[in-house]
Amino acid sequence: MENTASHSTAASPNLERRIKRQAWAPEHQLFATCAPGLEPLAAAELTSLGFRQVESLAGGAACAHRLDGLYGANLWLRCAGRVLLRLKDFRVHTWEDLPRQAAAIPWEVWLKPGAPLKVLVSLRASNLKHTGRIAEEVLAGASTRLAGLGLAPPTAALPQASDPAMVMVRGHERRASISLDSSGAHLHRRGYRLDPGQAPLREDLAAALLLLCGYGGNEPLLDPMCGSGTLAIEAGLLARRLPPGLGRAFAFQDWPCHRPATWDFLVRTAQKQALAAPPQPIYARDLAAKALHSARANAQRAGLEGSLILEQADFFEAAPPPCPPGLMVINPPFGKRLGSVRQARAFAQDLGRKLKSDYAGWRVGVVLYRPEWEELLRLRPLARLVAPHGGLTVTMLCGQV
Ligand SMILES: C[S@@+](CC[C@H](N)C(=O)[O-])C[C@H]1O[C@@H](n2cnc3c(N)ncnc32)[C@H](O)[C@@H]1O
Repeated sequence: MENTASHSTAASPNLERRIKRQAWAPEHQLFATCAPGLEPLAAAELTSLGFRQVESLAGGAACAHRLDGLYGANLWLRCAGRVLLRLKDFRVHTWEDLPRQAAAIPWEVWLKPGAPLKVLVSLRASNLKHTGRIAEEVLAGASTRLAGLGLAPPTAALPQASDPAMVMVRGHERRASISLDSSGAHLHRRGYRLDPGQAPLREDLAAALLLLCGYGGNEPLLDPMCGSGTLAIEAGLLARRLPPGLGRAFAFQDWPCHRPATWDFLVRTAQKQALAAPPQPIYARDLAAKALHSARANAQRAGLEGSLILEQADFFEAAPPPCPPGLMVINPPFGKRLGSVRQARAFAQDLGRKLKSDYAGWRVGVVLYRPEWEELLRLRPLARLVAPHGGLTVTMLCGQV
Protein backbone atom coordinates (compact mmCIF):
# COMPACT_ATOMS: atom_id res chain seq x y z
CA MET A 1 0.00 0.00 0.00
CA GLU A 2 1.11 3.56 -0.64
CA ASN A 3 3.12 5.54 1.87
CA THR A 4 2.54 9.25 1.69
CA ALA A 5 3.19 12.28 3.87
CA SER A 6 1.05 13.06 6.92
CA HIS A 7 -1.63 15.73 6.61
CA SER A 8 -0.47 17.40 9.82
CA THR A 9 1.57 20.02 7.99
CA ALA A 10 1.46 22.21 11.09
CA ALA A 11 2.92 19.40 13.24
CA SER A 12 6.38 20.02 14.65
CA PRO A 13 9.30 18.06 13.15
CA ASN A 14 9.46 16.26 16.47
CA LEU A 15 5.88 15.12 16.21
CA GLU A 16 6.39 14.14 12.58
CA ARG A 17 9.30 11.97 13.61
CA ARG A 18 7.23 10.29 16.33
CA ILE A 19 4.36 9.75 13.93
CA LYS A 20 6.68 7.91 11.58
CA ARG A 21 8.35 5.91 14.31
CA GLN A 22 5.36 5.09 16.48
CA ALA A 23 2.46 5.00 14.05
CA TRP A 24 3.64 4.18 10.52
CA ALA A 25 6.84 2.14 10.88
CA PRO A 26 5.77 -0.70 13.19
CA GLU A 27 3.23 -3.42 12.84
CA HIS A 28 0.36 -3.08 15.28
CA GLN A 29 -1.84 -5.66 16.91
CA LEU A 30 -5.31 -5.21 15.45
CA PHE A 31 -8.56 -6.67 16.70
CA ALA A 32 -11.74 -6.62 14.64
CA THR A 33 -14.67 -6.96 17.04
CA CYS A 34 -17.89 -8.61 15.93
CA ALA A 35 -21.16 -9.92 17.33
CA PRO A 36 -20.66 -13.20 19.23
CA GLY A 37 -21.09 -16.09 16.81
CA LEU A 38 -19.63 -14.19 13.84
CA GLU A 39 -15.95 -14.63 14.82
CA PRO A 40 -15.07 -17.29 12.19
CA LEU A 41 -16.64 -15.10 9.48
CA ALA A 42 -14.74 -12.00 10.64
CA ALA A 43 -11.51 -14.04 10.68
CA ALA A 44 -12.23 -15.39 7.18
CA GLU A 45 -12.85 -11.85 5.95
CA LEU A 46 -9.50 -10.66 7.33
CA THR A 47 -7.76 -13.62 5.71
CA SER A 48 -9.36 -12.97 2.35
CA LEU A 49 -8.30 -9.31 2.60
CA GLY A 50 -4.72 -10.54 2.75
CA PHE A 51 -4.01 -10.34 6.49
CA ARG A 52 -1.77 -13.12 7.75
CA GLN A 53 -1.74 -15.02 11.06
CA VAL A 54 -5.37 -14.20 11.67
CA GLU A 55 -6.78 -15.65 14.86
CA SER A 56 -10.45 -16.10 15.62
CA LEU A 57 -11.04 -15.24 19.30
CA ALA A 58 -14.05 -14.64 21.54
CA GLY A 59 -15.67 -11.41 20.35
CA GLY A 60 -13.64 -10.93 17.17
CA ALA A 61 -10.54 -11.72 15.17
CA ALA A 62 -6.95 -10.64 15.75
CA CYS A 63 -4.09 -9.98 13.34
CA ALA A 64 -1.03 -7.77 13.02
CA HIS A 65 -0.43 -5.15 10.33
CA ARG A 66 0.88 -1.70 9.69
CA LEU A 67 -1.51 1.23 9.85
CA ASP A 68 -2.59 1.05 6.21
CA GLY A 69 -3.99 -2.41 7.05
CA LEU A 70 -6.14 -0.84 9.74
CA TYR A 71 -7.51 1.60 7.15
CA GLY A 72 -8.24 -1.31 4.80
CA ALA A 73 -9.95 -3.35 7.52
CA ASN A 74 -12.28 -0.44 8.33
CA LEU A 75 -13.05 0.09 4.68
CA TRP A 76 -13.67 -3.54 3.75
CA LEU A 77 -14.90 -5.58 6.72
CA ARG A 78 -18.55 -6.47 6.29
CA CYS A 79 -19.44 -8.33 9.47
CA ALA A 80 -17.19 -6.58 12.01
CA GLY A 81 -18.21 -3.95 14.57
CA ARG A 82 -14.99 -2.02 15.16
CA VAL A 83 -11.29 -2.25 14.47
CA LEU A 84 -9.20 -1.76 17.62
CA LEU A 85 -5.52 -0.93 17.72
CA ARG A 86 -3.57 -2.31 20.66
CA LEU A 87 -1.56 0.50 22.29
CA LYS A 88 -0.16 -1.37 25.28
CA ASP A 89 -0.26 -4.81 26.81
CA PHE A 90 1.36 -5.18 30.21
CA ARG A 91 1.58 -7.10 33.45
CA VAL A 92 -0.09 -5.51 36.43
CA HIS A 93 1.68 -5.88 39.77
CA THR A 94 0.38 -2.84 41.60
CA TRP A 95 -2.03 0.02 40.97
CA GLU A 96 0.89 2.28 40.06
CA ASP A 97 1.54 0.16 36.96
CA LEU A 98 -1.62 1.46 35.34
CA PRO A 99 -0.93 5.25 35.25
CA ARG A 100 2.75 4.59 34.54
CA GLN A 101 2.00 2.36 31.55
CA ALA A 102 -0.78 4.68 30.38
CA ALA A 103 1.56 7.70 30.48
CA ALA A 104 4.15 5.80 28.40
CA ILE A 105 1.78 5.58 25.41
CA PRO A 106 2.60 8.16 22.71
CA TRP A 107 -0.89 9.67 22.87
CA GLU A 108 0.26 12.72 20.89
CA VAL A 109 0.31 10.48 17.83
CA TRP A 110 -3.20 9.12 18.39
CA LEU A 111 -5.29 11.82 20.07
CA LYS A 112 -6.25 15.22 18.81
CA PRO A 113 -5.21 17.66 21.57
CA GLY A 114 -8.11 18.52 23.85
CA ALA A 115 -10.47 15.98 22.24
CA PRO A 116 -13.18 14.33 24.37
CA LEU A 117 -12.14 10.79 25.26
CA LYS A 118 -14.27 7.91 26.48
CA VAL A 119 -12.53 5.09 28.37
CA LEU A 120 -14.40 1.78 28.51
CA VAL A 121 -13.19 -0.85 30.95
CA SER A 122 -13.91 -4.58 30.98
CA LEU A 123 -12.49 -6.93 33.59
CA ARG A 124 -12.43 -10.71 33.69
CA ALA A 125 -10.90 -12.41 36.72
CA SER A 126 -8.60 -9.38 36.87
CA ASN A 127 -6.45 -8.26 39.76
CA LEU A 128 -7.59 -4.74 38.86
CA LYS A 129 -10.85 -3.63 40.40
CA HIS A 130 -13.00 -0.48 40.21
CA THR A 131 -13.68 0.24 36.56
CA GLY A 132 -14.30 3.94 37.28
CA ARG A 133 -10.89 4.39 38.85
CA ILE A 134 -9.18 2.50 36.02
CA ALA A 135 -10.78 4.83 33.47
CA GLU A 136 -9.64 7.86 35.51
CA GLU A 137 -6.08 6.55 35.71
CA VAL A 138 -5.87 5.99 31.97
CA LEU A 139 -7.26 9.45 31.26
CA ALA A 140 -4.79 10.88 33.78
CA GLY A 141 -1.92 8.99 32.09
CA ALA A 142 -2.86 10.42 28.69
CA SER A 143 -3.17 13.91 30.21
CA THR A 144 0.25 13.66 31.87
CA ARG A 145 1.84 12.64 28.60
CA LEU A 146 0.21 15.36 26.51
CA ALA A 147 0.68 18.12 29.10
CA GLY A 148 4.39 17.19 29.30
CA LEU A 149 4.61 17.94 25.57
CA GLY A 150 2.76 21.23 25.93
CA LEU A 151 -0.38 19.79 24.27
CA ALA A 152 -3.96 20.14 25.54
CA PRO A 153 -4.96 17.01 27.51
CA PRO A 154 -8.07 15.03 26.57
CA THR A 155 -11.32 15.77 28.36
CA ALA A 156 -13.61 13.06 29.73
CA ALA A 157 -16.37 12.61 27.12
CA LEU A 158 -19.84 13.52 28.30
CA PRO A 159 -22.28 10.57 28.22
CA GLN A 160 -24.30 12.17 25.40
CA ALA A 161 -21.23 12.93 23.22
CA SER A 162 -21.66 11.37 19.78
CA ASP A 163 -18.71 9.23 18.68
CA PRO A 164 -15.92 10.58 20.93
CA ALA A 165 -12.43 9.06 20.69
CA MET A 166 -12.69 5.76 22.52
CA VAL A 167 -10.15 3.73 24.45
CA MET A 168 -10.82 0.21 25.71
CA VAL A 169 -9.04 -1.15 28.77
CA ARG A 170 -9.23 -4.89 29.33
CA GLY A 171 -8.05 -6.58 32.48
CA HIS A 172 -7.59 -10.33 32.58
CA GLU A 173 -5.88 -12.03 35.51
CA ARG A 174 -2.57 -10.20 35.99
CA ARG A 175 -2.47 -8.56 32.57
CA ALA A 176 -4.09 -5.45 31.18
CA SER A 177 -4.29 -4.01 27.68
CA ILE A 178 -5.15 -0.57 26.39
CA SER A 179 -6.60 -0.33 22.87
CA LEU A 180 -7.81 2.55 20.75
CA ASP A 181 -10.95 2.36 18.62
CA SER A 182 -10.20 3.30 15.02
CA SER A 183 -13.75 3.05 13.67
CA GLY A 184 -15.88 5.65 15.48
CA ALA A 185 -19.51 4.80 14.77
CA HIS A 186 -20.08 1.03 14.75
CA LEU A 187 -19.10 -0.42 11.37
CA HIS A 188 -22.64 -1.62 10.66
CA ARG A 189 -23.53 2.03 10.22
CA ARG A 190 -22.60 2.14 6.57
CA GLY A 191 -24.56 5.36 6.09
CA TYR A 192 -27.04 4.15 3.49
CA ARG A 193 -29.90 3.05 5.72
CA LEU A 194 -31.69 6.23 6.72
CA ASP A 195 -35.03 4.53 6.16
CA PRO A 196 -35.05 1.46 8.42
CA GLY A 197 -38.52 0.07 7.57
CA GLN A 198 -40.03 -2.68 9.72
CA ALA A 199 -37.77 -4.92 11.87
CA PRO A 200 -34.65 -4.41 9.76
CA LEU A 201 -31.70 -6.74 9.94
CA ARG A 202 -28.50 -5.05 11.07
CA GLU A 203 -26.10 -4.58 8.16
CA ASP A 204 -23.27 -6.66 9.67
CA LEU A 205 -25.67 -9.55 10.34
CA ALA A 206 -27.09 -9.31 6.83
CA ALA A 207 -23.55 -9.52 5.45
CA ALA A 208 -22.86 -12.44 7.82
CA LEU A 209 -25.85 -14.39 6.48
CA LEU A 210 -24.61 -13.86 2.91
CA LEU A 211 -21.07 -14.92 3.81
CA LEU A 212 -22.37 -17.93 5.76
CA CYS A 213 -24.17 -18.99 2.57
CA GLY A 214 -20.99 -18.56 0.54
CA TYR A 215 -22.42 -15.73 -1.56
CA GLY A 216 -19.81 -14.05 -3.75
CA GLY A 217 -22.01 -12.41 -6.37
CA ASN A 218 -21.64 -15.09 -9.04
CA GLU A 219 -25.12 -16.57 -8.76
CA PRO A 220 -28.62 -15.09 -8.86
CA LEU A 221 -29.88 -13.75 -5.56
CA LEU A 222 -33.45 -13.29 -4.36
CA ASP A 223 -34.70 -11.63 -1.19
CA PRO A 224 -38.47 -12.24 -1.46
CA MET A 225 -39.29 -10.21 1.70
CA CYS A 226 -36.74 -7.43 1.42
CA GLY A 227 -38.23 -4.79 3.73
CA SER A 228 -35.81 -1.85 3.68
CA GLY A 229 -33.50 -3.86 1.44
CA THR A 230 -30.57 -4.56 3.77
CA LEU A 231 -29.85 -8.10 2.54
CA ALA A 232 -30.15 -7.16 -1.13
CA ILE A 233 -28.02 -4.03 -0.64
CA GLU A 234 -25.30 -5.97 1.19
CA ALA A 235 -25.46 -8.54 -1.62
CA GLY A 236 -25.17 -5.73 -4.18
CA LEU A 237 -22.07 -4.33 -2.45
CA LEU A 238 -20.51 -7.79 -2.32
CA ALA A 239 -21.37 -8.63 -5.91
CA ARG A 240 -20.00 -5.33 -7.24
CA ARG A 241 -16.86 -5.66 -5.04
CA LEU A 242 -17.74 -2.39 -3.34
CA PRO A 243 -16.41 -1.86 0.18
CA PRO A 244 -19.13 -1.26 2.78
CA GLY A 245 -17.22 1.67 4.31
CA LEU A 246 -17.06 3.82 1.20
CA GLY A 247 -19.68 6.35 2.26
CA ARG A 248 -18.76 7.05 5.88
CA ALA A 249 -16.20 8.63 8.18
CA PHE A 250 -13.92 6.82 10.65
CA ALA A 251 -12.31 7.78 13.97
CA PHE A 252 -8.79 7.32 12.58
CA GLN A 253 -9.39 10.28 10.26
CA ASP A 254 -9.12 12.50 13.36
CA TRP A 255 -5.83 11.07 14.56
CA PRO A 256 -2.80 13.40 14.34
CA CYS A 257 -0.97 10.58 12.51
CA HIS A 258 -3.69 10.17 9.88
CA ARG A 259 -2.48 10.28 6.29
CA PRO A 260 -5.37 11.37 4.06
CA ALA A 261 -3.38 10.56 0.93
CA THR A 262 -3.01 6.92 2.02
CA TRP A 263 -6.73 6.73 2.73
CA ASP A 264 -7.63 8.41 -0.59
CA PHE A 265 -5.41 5.92 -2.39
CA LEU A 266 -7.24 2.97 -0.78
CA VAL A 267 -10.62 4.47 -1.62
CA ARG A 268 -9.64 5.25 -5.23
CA THR A 269 -8.21 1.75 -5.69
CA ALA A 270 -11.44 0.23 -4.32
CA GLN A 271 -13.54 2.37 -6.64
CA LYS A 272 -11.42 1.47 -9.66
CA GLN A 273 -11.65 -2.28 -9.13
CA ALA A 274 -15.41 -2.29 -8.43
CA LEU A 275 -17.66 -3.85 -11.04
CA ALA A 276 -20.09 -1.58 -12.88
CA ALA A 277 -22.92 -4.09 -12.35
CA PRO A 278 -23.49 -7.33 -10.41
CA PRO A 279 -22.44 -10.34 -12.54
CA GLN A 280 -25.78 -12.03 -11.77
CA PRO A 281 -29.20 -10.52 -11.05
CA ILE A 282 -30.19 -9.49 -7.52
CA TYR A 283 -33.96 -9.48 -6.95
CA ALA A 284 -35.47 -7.65 -3.99
CA ARG A 285 -39.19 -8.27 -3.62
CA ASP A 286 -41.75 -7.33 -1.01
CA LEU A 287 -45.50 -7.36 -0.58
CA ALA A 288 -45.57 -3.78 0.64
CA ALA A 289 -45.07 -0.80 -1.68
CA LYS A 290 -43.81 1.22 1.31
CA ALA A 291 -41.03 -1.31 1.96
CA LEU A 292 -39.92 -1.17 -1.68
CA HIS A 293 -39.89 2.61 -1.51
CA SER A 294 -37.46 2.58 1.42
CA ALA A 295 -35.39 -0.23 -0.17
CA ARG A 296 -35.06 1.89 -3.32
CA ALA A 297 -34.01 5.01 -1.37
CA ASN A 298 -31.49 3.00 0.69
CA ALA A 299 -30.07 1.31 -2.42
CA GLN A 300 -29.61 4.70 -4.08
CA ARG A 301 -27.72 6.00 -1.06
CA ALA A 302 -25.53 2.86 -1.16
CA GLY A 303 -24.60 3.68 -4.77
CA LEU A 304 -26.54 0.69 -6.08
CA GLU A 305 -29.05 2.46 -8.27
CA GLY A 306 -29.74 0.14 -11.17
CA SER A 307 -27.93 -2.81 -9.52
CA LEU A 308 -31.02 -4.32 -7.87
CA ILE A 309 -34.27 -5.47 -9.45
CA LEU A 310 -37.01 -4.25 -7.11
CA GLU A 311 -40.44 -5.80 -7.55
CA GLN A 312 -43.67 -5.70 -5.60
CA ALA A 313 -44.77 -9.32 -5.18
CA ASP A 314 -46.38 -11.68 -2.70
CA PHE A 315 -43.95 -14.54 -2.17
CA PHE A 316 -46.77 -17.08 -1.92
CA GLU A 317 -48.40 -15.93 -5.18
CA ALA A 318 -45.52 -14.87 -7.42
CA ALA A 319 -43.50 -17.13 -9.69
CA PRO A 320 -39.75 -17.43 -9.03
CA PRO A 321 -37.69 -14.83 -10.88
CA PRO A 322 -36.68 -15.67 -14.48
CA CYS A 323 -33.20 -16.96 -13.70
CA PRO A 324 -31.50 -20.26 -12.82
CA PRO A 325 -31.64 -21.32 -9.14
CA GLY A 326 -29.28 -19.37 -6.93
CA LEU A 327 -29.35 -18.10 -3.36
CA MET A 328 -32.51 -16.92 -1.60
CA VAL A 329 -32.09 -14.94 1.62
CA ILE A 330 -35.01 -14.30 3.93
CA ASN A 331 -35.49 -12.29 7.11
CA PRO A 332 -39.14 -13.30 7.49
CA PRO A 333 -41.76 -11.32 9.36
CA PHE A 334 -41.90 -13.63 12.33
CA GLY A 335 -40.45 -13.80 15.78
CA LYS A 336 -41.21 -12.21 19.08
CA ARG A 337 -41.39 -8.78 17.56
CA LEU A 338 -43.82 -9.53 14.76
CA GLY A 339 -47.15 -11.33 15.20
CA SER A 340 -48.07 -14.19 17.51
CA VAL A 341 -46.02 -17.36 17.88
CA ARG A 342 -48.85 -19.39 16.34
CA GLN A 343 -49.03 -17.12 13.28
CA ALA A 344 -45.26 -17.23 12.95
CA ARG A 345 -45.23 -21.03 13.06
CA ALA A 346 -47.90 -21.21 10.37
CA PHE A 347 -45.92 -18.72 8.29
CA ALA A 348 -42.76 -20.84 8.58
CA GLN A 349 -44.75 -23.90 7.55
CA ASP A 350 -46.15 -22.11 4.46
CA LEU A 351 -42.66 -20.92 3.64
CA GLY A 352 -41.34 -24.50 3.75
CA ARG A 353 -44.17 -25.70 1.49
CA LYS A 354 -43.61 -22.94 -1.04
CA LEU A 355 -39.86 -23.56 -1.14
CA LYS A 356 -40.41 -27.28 -1.79
CA SER A 357 -42.98 -26.69 -4.53
CA ASP A 358 -41.39 -23.79 -6.49
CA TYR A 359 -37.72 -23.41 -5.58
CA ALA A 360 -36.03 -26.77 -6.17
CA GLY A 361 -32.29 -26.27 -6.63
CA TRP A 362 -32.12 -23.03 -4.62
CA ARG A 363 -30.01 -22.55 -1.52
CA VAL A 364 -31.78 -20.62 1.21
CA GLY A 365 -30.29 -18.45 3.95
CA VAL A 366 -32.85 -17.65 6.61
CA VAL A 367 -32.99 -15.79 9.91
CA LEU A 368 -34.89 -17.84 12.49
CA TYR A 369 -36.11 -16.35 15.73
CA ARG A 370 -36.83 -19.83 17.04
CA PRO A 371 -34.49 -22.71 16.18
CA GLU A 372 -37.34 -25.25 16.27
CA TRP A 373 -38.85 -23.64 13.16
CA GLU A 374 -35.93 -25.01 11.17
CA GLU A 375 -37.69 -28.34 10.60
CA LEU A 376 -40.78 -26.57 9.21
CA LEU A 377 -38.66 -25.19 6.38
CA ARG A 378 -37.63 -28.70 5.33
CA LEU A 379 -34.17 -27.62 4.13
CA ARG A 380 -31.08 -29.80 3.98
CA PRO A 381 -28.82 -27.88 6.38
CA LEU A 382 -25.45 -26.71 5.06
CA ALA A 383 -24.28 -24.19 7.68
CA ARG A 384 -25.60 -22.30 10.69
CA LEU A 385 -24.61 -19.77 13.29
CA VAL A 386 -26.28 -18.30 16.35
CA ALA A 387 -25.98 -14.58 17.05
CA PRO A 388 -27.65 -11.91 19.18
CA HIS A 389 -29.89 -9.47 17.35
CA GLY A 390 -32.04 -6.73 18.84
CA GLY A 391 -32.21 -8.32 22.28
CA LEU A 392 -33.00 -11.78 20.87
CA THR A 393 -30.87 -14.73 19.91
CA VAL A 394 -31.32 -15.63 16.27
CA THR A 395 -30.22 -18.67 14.31
CA MET A 396 -28.95 -18.04 10.83
CA LEU A 397 -29.37 -21.12 8.74
CA CYS A 398 -28.16 -21.94 5.27
CA GLY A 399 -29.85 -24.93 3.67
CA GLN A 400 -30.59 -26.56 0.35
CA VAL A 401 -34.18 -26.86 -0.86
C1 LIG B 1 -38.69 -8.49 8.90
S1 LIG B 1 -39.11 -7.64 7.44
C2 LIG B 1 -37.64 -7.74 6.47
C3 LIG B 1 -36.62 -6.75 6.92
C4 LIG B 1 -35.45 -6.63 5.99
N1 LIG B 1 -34.58 -7.81 6.03
C5 LIG B 1 -34.64 -5.38 6.35
O1 LIG B 1 -33.49 -5.48 6.79
O2 LIG B 1 -35.21 -4.30 6.25
C6 LIG B 1 -40.19 -8.71 6.64
C7 LIG B 1 -40.77 -8.18 5.35
O3 LIG B 1 -41.55 -9.22 4.77
C8 LIG B 1 -42.59 -8.62 4.02
N2 LIG B 1 -43.60 -9.66 3.75
C9 LIG B 1 -44.45 -10.25 4.62
N3 LIG B 1 -45.19 -11.17 4.00
C10 LIG B 1 -44.79 -11.19 2.71
C11 LIG B 1 -45.17 -11.92 1.57
N4 LIG B 1 -46.14 -12.84 1.65
N5 LIG B 1 -44.54 -11.69 0.40
C12 LIG B 1 -43.59 -10.74 0.32
N6 LIG B 1 -43.19 -10.00 1.36
C13 LIG B 1 -43.79 -10.21 2.54
C14 LIG B 1 -43.03 -7.48 4.89
O4 LIG B 1 -43.71 -6.50 4.12
C15 LIG B 1 -41.71 -6.99 5.49
O5 LIG B 1 -41.20 -5.91 4.74
